[in-house]
Amino acid sequence: MVTLSEIKAPVADELKKFETYFRQATKSDIRALNVVVNYIIRTRGKQIRPLFVFLAAKMHGEINEKTYLGATTIELLHSASLIHDDVVDESYERRGFFSVNALWKNKISVLLGDFLLAKGLLVSTEEKEYEILEIISTTVKEMIEGELLQYDKSRKLDIDEKTYFDIISKKTASLIATSLAVGVHSVNPDPELVSQMREIGLLAGLAFQIRDDIFDYQNKGLIGKPTGNDIKEKKITLPLIHVLNHSSAGEKRKILNTVKRKNLRKEKVVELIELVKRKGGIEYSIEKMNQYGNEALEKLKVFPQNEASVAMAQLIKYIINRKK
Ligand code: IPE
Ligand code: IPE
Ligand code: MG
Ligand code: MG
Repeated sequence: MVTLSEIKAPVADELKKFETYFRQATKSDIRALNVVVNYIIRTRGKQIRPLFVFLAAKMHGEINEKTYLGATTIELLHSASLIHDDVVDESYERRGFFSVNALWKNKISVLLGDFLLAKGLLVSTEEKEYEILEIISTTVKEMIEGELLQYDKSRKLDIDEKTYFDIISKKTASLIATSLAVGVHSVNPDPELVSQMREIGLLAGLAFQIRDDIFDYQNKGLIGKPTGNDIKEKKITLPLIHVLNHSSAGEKRKILNTVKRKNLRKEKVVELIELVKRKGGIEYSIEKMNQYGNEALEKLKVFPQNEASVAMAQLIKYIINRKK
């Protein structure tokens, strides 16, 4: 498989310059804040979203100042959403390090997430990029709706496959879709073109979250964040939904009763994970993930091939095959 740094090669200089933008945007006069911000910068992730922004722009034109602003805003929002996510999910590991809430507790995490969110939106406002601001603010709203819908379903445990796709489309795919939209918008704001690119991002984003949900059923120690957390948090994702859909009423009740239990024991989680594996939940999810990924790749083919579109196709394949 092509490595992520190979995929990044066509926009390596831009990604490097982007780092400076990101760092600049997170600066503050509050010393206590800078300590945590520095930690965030040191433990940065794969930076897939800025990569999507730059590749989408380069596919259709020349990367410019607007592209950088878009990439910066999006990665800031992404960082904010992860810091908040680990509070909401009570998760103590992120990117192979302690999560912000593990080290500085919830209060600082909530405030830092808010700070990064505000700074992200300000980056676009200061440069009067109101269209980018609107596109991204809409996505922020959608991501929060996705999280709330997910929370509601984890309380009622009445999720079905359609709702699952609605949730992941909002909480994850929307930001990846927006990364492609903002990227192309920065070089060519033609609405038809932007919408085509957004659609590719949405499909890739669905595949991305399915892969993430499969990770949660796999062995610990590889992906840099805890596994088995979804069931613990009563989050029923695609692998388990598939199993529920193929269980008798009695079996279904038994599974849901286990998920419902307060302070669910580790052994019980492991048991459920084994059941999902035995009953083909992972295979089914992989099939769905591939379907979305292939659809994204198909839609990419309508554009003339260039260095950036080739890397874009590789990135979509990477998302499906990635190991973290
Ligand atoms: C993690 O996204 C959050 C999800 C939407 C599943 P990434 O896997 O892109 O996170 P980092 O930035 O590389 O850590
Ligand atoms: C991803 O949610 C984070 C957002 C989309 C905001 P998850 O809770 O499913 O992702 P991980 O596994 O913690 O990264
Ligand atoms: Mg979450
Ligand atoms: Mg989480």
